[in-house]
Amino acid sequence: MGNISIKLFGKTLRNPVFNASGTLGYGVEIEPLWSVETMGAYVTKGLSIRPHHGNPTPRVWEERHGMINSIGLQNVGVDRFFDTYLPFFRKKRLPIIVNFFGFTEDEYVACAEKIKPDRLIVALEMNLSCPNIKAGGISFGKEPSMVFKIVKKVKGVTKIPLFAKLTPEVKNIVDIAKAACDAGADGLTLINTMPAAAFDAKKKSIPLKGGLSGPVLKPISLRAVHECSKAVSVPIIGVGGIMDAMDAVSFFMAGARAVQIGTATFIDPYAIPKIIKEISDYLDANGIKKIDDIVRTAHGK
Ligand SMILES: Cc1cc2nc3c(=O)[nH]c(=O)nc-3n(C[C@H](O)[C@H](O)[C@H](O)COP(=O)(O)O)c2cc1C
Repeated sequence: MGNISIKLFGKTLRNPVFNASGTLGYGVEIEPLWSVETMGAYVTKGLSIRPHHGNPTPRVWEERHGMINSIGLQNVGVDRFFDTYLPFFRKKRLPIIVNFFGFTEDEYVACAEKIKPDRLIVALEMNLSCPNIKAGGISFGKEPSMVFKIVKKVKGVTKIPLFAKLTPEVKNIVDIAKAACDAGADGLTLINTMPAAAFDAKKKSIPLKGGLSGPVLKPISLRAVHECSKAVSVPIIGVGGIMDAMDAVSFFMAGARAVQIGTATFIDPYAIPKIIKEISDYLDANGIKKIDDIVRTAHGK
């Protein structure tokens, strides 16, 4: 297998493929099938200052080309993650990216402040799709001014590199990306799920409203990566509907330095290790020495 390692914020990762936040539990659950350290890094479930029970069921709904989820940001809370699960990743020497969120600016700041720099932590990933309860429930990520404010506040309390994870439900994602970078974000994760609803025709009801993920999201995400990578110079992680290695390669070509895999794992729990192997095969077959040689070929560079 060829060398597909990448460098991110001075750390060498064995490959550019990570799980998408919330789609691989706390990392330990997949161990009976494959070793989590197969990935370049593990991305945590979204963590908050206090634990959350999440939403009642149904929480997932299968669509023809995607999936709608309404998990409701269930998580064990930032303290319990570090007490219970960090030792597992430390033993495996697997770098982690800590995804976190809050329902107020203070909650984001308090959560980021709690996470102390650690050799294992590559970056924080700030989920900006969360509703701001002090602004009538509008998502933090919808307006450039709100994004600038919250990213700047979080940057003020942490020395860990910060990825801003953006929602696609915006007028112009490039304006949001620029606001995040102007406020000091060190990288962008593009994109989160798209708001959607399921309809059960037999019951004549809407059983679930939530976030749409999977193949249907891929062209939207690819466009976001392509447009934003022209506008900002920070590293971009591409996520949304990546189902196989060629999907991943198309994200590298559009400007992503790494990719995350979510819904694909629900269809095939071995999707991530397969994609890693096939990316390496692709590089070998095409005489490409490193991932960075593919990045941004869609910009003609
Ligand atoms: C069941 C589920 C739970 C998710 N939980 C989170 C989360 O806690 N934090 C977050 O930032 N994104 C979360 N996401 C969004 C994913 O990380 C990813 O951005 C999105 O699913 C698009 O990628 P995909 O099409 O490969 O699934 C979740 C997605 C799913 C399907």
